[in-house]
Amino acid sequence: MSQHFQHDVLIIGSGAAGLTLALTLPHHLRIAVLSKGELSNGSTFRAQGGVAAVLDDTDTVESHVEDTLIAGAGLCRAEAVRFTVEHSREAIQWLIEQGVPFTREDPTARDDGGFAFHLTREGGHSHRRIIHAADATGAAIFKTLLAQARERPNIELLEQHVAIDLITESKLGLPGKRCLGAYVLNRQSGEVDTYSARFTTLACGGAAKVYLYTSNPDSACGDGIAMAWRAGCRVGNLEFNQFHPTCLYHPQAKSFLITEALRGEGGLLKLPNGERFMPRFDSRAELAPRDIVARAIDHEMKRLGIDCVYLDISHKPADFIRTHFPTVYERCLDFGIDITREPIPVVPAAHYTCGGVVVDSHGRTDIPGLYAIGETSFTGLHGANRMASNSLLECFVYARSAALDILRQMADAGLPNDLPSWDASQVTDSDEDVIIAHNWDELRRFMWDYVGIVRTSKRLQRAQHRVRLLLGEIDEFYSNYKVSRDLIELRNLAQVADLMIRSAMQRHESRGLHYTLDYPDMLPEARDTILVPPTYAG
Ligand code: FAD
Ligand code: SIN
Repeated sequence: MSQHFQHDVLIIGSGAAGLTLALTLPHHLRIAVLSKGELSNGSTFRAQGGVAAVLDDTDTVESHVEDTLIAGAGLCRAEAVRFTVEHSREAIQWLIEQGVPFTREDPTARDDGGFAFHLTREGGHSHRRIIHAADATGAAIFKTLLAQARERPNIELLEQHVAIDLITESKLGLPGKRCLGAYVLNRQSGEVDTYSARFTTLACGGAAKVYLYTSNPDSACGDGIAMAWRAGCRVGNLEFNQFHPTCLYHPQAKSFLITEALRGEGGLLKLPNGERFMPRFDSRAELAPRDIVARAIDHEMKRLGIDCVYLDISHKPADFIRTHFPTVYERCLDFGIDITREPIPVVPAAHYTCGGVVVDSHGRTDIPGLYAIGETSFTGLHGANRMASNSLLECFVYARSAALDILRQMADAGLPNDLPSWDASQVTDSDEDVIIAHNWDELRRFMWDYVGIVRTSKRLQRAQHRVRLLLGEIDEFYSNYKVSRDLIELRNLAQVADLMIRSAMQRHESRGLHYTLDYPDMLPEARDTILVPPTYAG
């Protein structure tokens, strides 16, 4: 039997963004936090490098702002950058108060009363400003925030709950445009339940699973972006997919990232013959922004017909490497690579979705009562290329800002009731799950081949043709068969792939992460690519 649940705030996503919002809202509100798998299945748990923030006395807000604007290749929203950077210090202070065990400058110091934490460097940053917990920052943050959330009786943490679609007044044919909640598949009961809420927040992470090779976990299917689009929200800048330059290249290693901090601490990129190549591409060499490093690697791999390049930190003392990069050291050792003695084989892989659901500085979308935060959202911070470690920062700053806004509006927002149940009367059990698996594979392959690091108009047209065919098939499947997590994700991935391709086709220039051989130059004026859905709620 499907059930109805009521909450003050429904948060779809249990990563850095979702947990921060839940913890920042007051204790008297009833809050549900959903995760479609285990609570730790988002990108947050895997984040390695750290969180960028202005913490050092020699660093300034101006400098962090300027570095972000440069990495963003003229497309950042200046006010979003300033807003984020100005709130960086207080966001870190909040994390420290929650108990996040950031690495200290002096590991023996227990209470320094200030910001005496070790700060590392990553590409595009002109200062050391990345606060981190060794090379497993995301896991440290996630575990701390989760432990805090578990202490709060007003926060319900629901694993294996997959949001399918948002419920809005417009969709129900009611006057008004407000978001009223969501339909959610409970994977344990197999039922689709109705969650009504005064406020709903999409904190579903990014969409890098749309590509065959990715650093992201299986959860990164763009569900939040697809749900928002179907509900009538605008999406922005989805052509800007960031490829992380250095993922471990090994037949048994599934999506393991080699943190950029390794280059920040002196790691060098080399060809199989040991020759360094980055200085030929950019004066910042290994610490150039990611788009430049990823394109340089792609170029060298294609030029030489090689399967990977190498990242070498073995010239540093072995103790230094093991202390700063314990996770990378152990993981590589599992695959027989001792990084204190030999270089690491690496390739670029899809890593971060710079675009997303259009929001303002409080995470408000086009639909009243609906917020989007974290990687799902498009705040304007990242422009055409996200600077390393700015994304976790964005999760904290915007989640905290959304909490304040939700609180301000709480008294005026009624609790929706009598929402219709999910209608499953016309569907049967699928007897052909192979179709879902096949379509997943096809979609991710052509996105990698045609909408990857280097694009052409012809490749984009091919991709568009294929994604439209897939969308037709998936729609038919979706109308006739019971929903499953795989089907929900495939539908969302195909939807987001289509939006990415459309965005890429509209950009007649090369800027930041969008590089096309047909338009190799950058236009004088920088413009966002905003797509407006047929059901636009604005
Ligand atoms: P996530 O942490 O991805 O969480 C998404 C949540 O949404 C999950 O709980 C998932 O189950 C849930 N969800 C999704 N769809 C649904 C649905 N339909 N129904 C219910 N639940 C759903 N950034 C940095 O700033 N610094 C770093 O060092 C860094 N390192 C990284 C390393 C790796 C390997 C990766 C992959 C990313 C890294 N990033 C880093 C990027 C950063 O980790 C992410 O952008 C950030 O964690 C996103 O947080 P989030 O809360 O938006 O989403
Ligand atoms: C990394 O550690 O290289 C990832 C940092 C990021 O994605 O911001």
